[in-house]
Amino acid sequence: MDGNGRWAQKRHMPRSVGHIKGAAGVKALVEYCAKLGVKYLTLFAFSTENWSRPADEVSTLMGLFVQYLEKEMSALAAAGVRLKVIGDVAGFAPDLQQRIHAAGAATANNTAITLCVAANYGGRWDVLHAVQNWQAANPQQSVTELTEAALAQHLSTANMPEVDLLIRTGGEQRISNFLLWQSAYAELYFTDVLWPDFDQAELLKALASYAQRTRRFGLTTEQLA
Ligand code: FPP
Repeated sequence: MDGNGRWAQKRHMPRSVGHIKGAAGVKALVEYCAKLGVKYLTLFAFSTENWSRPADEVSTLMGLFVQYLEKEMSALAAAGVRLKVIGDVAGFAPDLQQRIHAAGAATANNTAITLCVAANYGGRWDVLHAVQNWQAANPQQSVTELTEAALAQHLSTANMPEVDLLIRTGGEQRISNFLLWQSAYAELYFTDVLWPDFDQAELLKALASYAQRTRRFGLTTEQLA
């Protein structure tokens, strides 16, 4: 969800206003995705590197997260949204951790769409953690026996499909430690649109671009025919 800070700065407002505006659009977009038949939407809300931002910005983001779980989750839950938070949740304040667990538990059986929020998340952390978890679960085995499939089962996204379409707003063309393993075959879509301006029309543009792609997964066009 890149571009919140610049959206606000362009309007001579504090960066936090951009985050507030960015968060405000999330509910409508999630519901629209569900309506379109998208089954999983993962939003990168807070990276492991974001802790180094100015303290007031970090505290705004934490506040927004809490507010979101408190105010919007019941409407999202009523719309059939299942919430899953991926990342090192233990790094958050106990109150936020408790809300995250409660929202996950309350929506666990919903099936319209899974809203996966990556918070205190890093792709490298995820892979490293998966290896460590696998080793802890299989203490008798050597890491040379670890397979890609087994590792994937210990990622924070275990039992979720891999990424089909990765959208980055805000004009940068990089992945910035998002779902590194899970995006191995993702189609990438970069747009200059800043996150607070990324609305339903912009989402449709991204999906139209995705629909034009030929996904070969390493095969030739002939093999796919
Ligand atoms: C990136 O923009 C955005 C973030 C670091 C935070 C996004 C988080 C929220 C909107 C909080 C609410 C979360 C949910 C799931 C409701 P940036 O600050 O890097 O923008 P810039 O590149 O223009 O500075």
